Amino acid sequence: MQPFLPTPMITGVVLFLMMAMMPSTIKLSHGHNITTILSNHPEFSTFNTYLSTTHLAEEINRRLTITVLAVDNDGMSKFLASKKPTLYTIRNILSFHILADYFGADKLHQISHRSALVASLFQATGAAPGTTGFVNVTDIIDGRVAFGAEDNDGVLDSHLVKSIKEIPYNISVVEISGLLNSPEADAPATGPIQYNITTMMSREGCKVFAYLVASTSNVARIFETDIGSNAGFTLFCPTDAAMAAYLPKYGQLTEEARSTLLLYHALPTYTSMQTLKTGGARNVQTTLAGSGYNFTVKDTEELVEIQTGIEDTAKVTGTVIDAQPLVIFTVDHVLEPNESFDESADEKPIAADGGDRKSNALGRRWWFVWVVLAVLAGIVQF
Ligand SMILES: *[C@@H]1O[C@H](CO)[C@@H](O)[C@H](O)[C@H]1NC(C)=O
Ligand SMILES: *[C@@H]1O[C@H](CO)[C@@H](O)[C@H](O)[C@H]1NC(C)=O
Ligand SMILES: *[C@@H]1O[C@H](CO)[C@@H](O)[C@H](O)[C@H]1NC(C)=O
Ligand SMILES: *[C@@H]1O[C@H](CO)[C@@H](O)[C@H](O)[C@H]1NC(C)=O
Ligand SMILES: *[C@@H]1O[C@H](CO)[C@@H](O)[C@H](O)[C@H]1NC(C)=O
Ligand SMILES: *[C@@H]1O[C@H](CO)[C@@H](O)[C@H](O)[C@H]1NC(C)=O
Repeated sequence: MQPFLPTPMITGVVLFLMMAMMPSTIKLSHGHNITTILSNHPEFSTFNTYLSTTHLAEEINRRLTITVLAVDNDGMSKFLASKKPTLYTIRNILSFHILADYFGADKLHQISHRSALVASLFQATGAAPGTTGFVNVTDIIDGRVAFGAEDNDGVLDSHLVKSIKEIPYNISVVEISGLLNSPEADAPATGPIQYNITTMMSREGCKVFAYLVASTSNVARIFETDIGSNAGFTLFCPTDAAMAAYLPKYGQLTEEARSTLLLYHALPTYTSMQTLKTGGARNVQTTLAGSGYNFTVKDTEELVEIQTGIEDTAKVTGTVIDAQPLVIFTVDHVLEPNESFDESADEKPIAADGGDRKSNALGRRWWFVWVVLAVLAGIVQF
């Protein structure tokens, strides 16, 4: 077998990739629990209930620095009665009220230049098109702090009432006077198909895997169909560091083997962390790569591991999104099927036109490596 790049160059490429990547692994558990925090304040019980039913509570508990803009039962009742929203629309709207940064009451009153645009979870889930999903927080002249969705024509339609709970730099829960209006979040959503998994994975440190899925059209199509199915969809995305380490090998795979490898990272059902953990040692999961392409999930204390039968065991290191019927976890190793697949185009006998085919294949691999480098360097944006 011929290496597709000289060894020092591979090492160089891998090192470059490692350095180009930013650590963005999310830890699985922190101290705060939004459900518990709000349960001490019955006037927010409706808001609290919907945070749980939309699975946003888990998303909030998972984040390290977060601000929740809570609306009382009156405000929630008015919204539910007037708009009769679906659960998906409720999720979108509530995710606009969760800011991906820590804003205690003090910080809200000391916003630099008195005004800032802050990314909400609506932005972070990839549901928001373009630059929508930002919340304008403005400290207005009379000492009040006003909030408004950026896509709401500059109208700041809510203001800070009081602080409910502050755990400095981890979580801040504040009451605001009413739900923020956002034409984008309000748009009737039809289902989980709205999620853009490319965007979500890229934002959580799986740029390369996201790129490979998006650019392998048969795989992207299968994933899309499955996300829209009733049974749901589970995906394990290897972090950029894991992909960088695997890249030389990936470059050697045939097109078909690449598809199989990508499909091997997905399950055709919604499998929450809880389900993964309770499955026990005999928890054999059949992947989208087909029968025979299965792996075993093992729960060791806090850690969920995936055993493919080949070399390293992959550990689940974080959650990109958990919103039934879709869940995406990050893993620290590429999952390699134990079932052997046609690994190397180079090992095939080379026919009369072999020279050309070979140099074409070599060309494709170079192209592949440089595109992946470009993705990581941020030249191609997701
Ligand atoms: C804030 O989060 C960090 C990291 O998870 C944790 O170590 C710390 O105990 C938390 N602080 C409080 C006050 O809960
Ligand atoms: C948060 O608290 C609720 C009840 O107060 C509990 O059901 C839930 O399991 C807790 N979540 C975590 C992640 O501990
Ligand atoms: C926030 O909205 C106010 C009122 O429309 C506007 O004057 C201000 O420039 C906005 N702030 C930012 C950072 O866009
Ligand atoms: C898992 O796949 C292997 C082949 O890799 C096969 O022998 C085994 O029967 C499969 N197990 C289950 C439970 O499907
Ligand atoms: C696949 O798994 C079986 C049983 O776990 C093992 O005997 C075999 O060596 C594995 N194959 C490879 C290629 O690692
Ligand atoms: C996801 O977002 C990216 C970049 O914003 C876009 O190129 C792609 O078409 C989107 N995919 C879907 C399925 O909407």
